[in-house]
Amino acid sequence: MANTETAIVVETLGPPTAGVQQGLDTLVRQSGWNQTPQDWAFFSREGTLCVVRDAQGNIVASGAVLPHGPHIAWISMILVAPDLRGQGLGRAVFVHCLALVKAAGRTACLDATPDGQRLYSQFGFAPVYRVTRWQRAARVLAAAAPHSTQLPDAQRLAALDAQALGAPRHALLADFLARPDTACVRSAEGFAIVRRGRIAHQIGPLLAVDDASAADLMRRAIEPLAGLVFIDVPDERVLLASQLRDGGFTPQRSFMRMVLGDQPPRGQTHFIHAIAGPEFG
Ligand SMILES: CC(C)(COP(=O)(O)OP(=O)(O)OC[C@H]1O[C@@H](n2cnc3c(N)ncnc32)[C@H](O)[C@@H]1OP(=O)(O)O)[C@@H](O)C(=O)NCCC(=O)NCCS
Repeated sequence: MANTETAIVVETLGPPTAGVQQGLDTLVRQSGWNQTPQDWAFFSREGTLCVVRDAQGNIVASGAVLPHGPHIAWISMILVAPDLRGQGLGRAVFVHCLALVKAAGRTACLDATPDGQRLYSQFGFAPVYRVTRWQRAARVLAAAAPHSTQLPDAQRLAALDAQALGAPRHALLADFLARPDTACVRSAEGFAIVRRGRIAHQIGPLLAVDDASAADLMRRAIEPLAGLVFIDVPDERVLLASQLRDGGFTPQRSFMRMVLGDQPPRGQTHFIHAIAGPEFG
């Protein structure tokens, strides 16, 4: 157990060792989250990972800061071991992450779970828009044609992605595309990336200039998937939501995109039909 009688120490991690990796994966598993070792490695390489340990050195809370370009940073992976919640660990690791973002002179953005939103609101984070995670159960496939194994260069997707988010994140797209199980469907009007998470395929980002193109990309992204699927869709995308419902998806949970301060990234958010994931923005 963490000793809550003494001050909570938040540690900034270097590259995760095998033991640290195991501790981080345990946290994710305990909460039923979908992140993989590749996700943690990306946070560590391109951003900063913070943890709290218990008296035995086990990791019991985590947080990550991920810069997207020079102006903004995503705070994510604020996660506390279930049996240690409500003792100040989440607040401590979040305060540490927020201080890192402020020290770098960036605007802090995040996608909050309802539990997280209660905490972040206390620091002045304001809601931007709500996102719903839609989920479809695994199914038996007749004989769907698999996704093409031809993946584009991240550079070809980065411009639309930066335009949509209002910040560049070429490294993230390159990381997704370098993973062995990733697929990407494209058209002249947009693209969707499908990556394999710990428990589910995650579709996102799905970016397109209009609803019809997004619907087509989503259909092509989903068609070959047999396993559990997650897709995180802004609630404003009502047509996509009804397409998901018709395709057997159900709402699983919601996230609130939040920004600190009065200068949210100036993206063309109507291009965003599914976010990359709450941990990546
Ligand atoms: C959200 C989470 C990180 C908070 O960590 P924690 O260590 O339990 O929280 P703390 O003890 O530091 O409390 C911080 C604040 O969280 C808020 N809070 C968190 N969970 C809450 C709940 N279930 N009910 C009410 N308030 C809650 C409270 O506002 C609390 O503020 P207070 O101390 O003024 O009452 C933790 O509950 C958790 O890991 N949840 C599951 C994963 C998750 O949703 N993470 C957030 C991702 S955006």
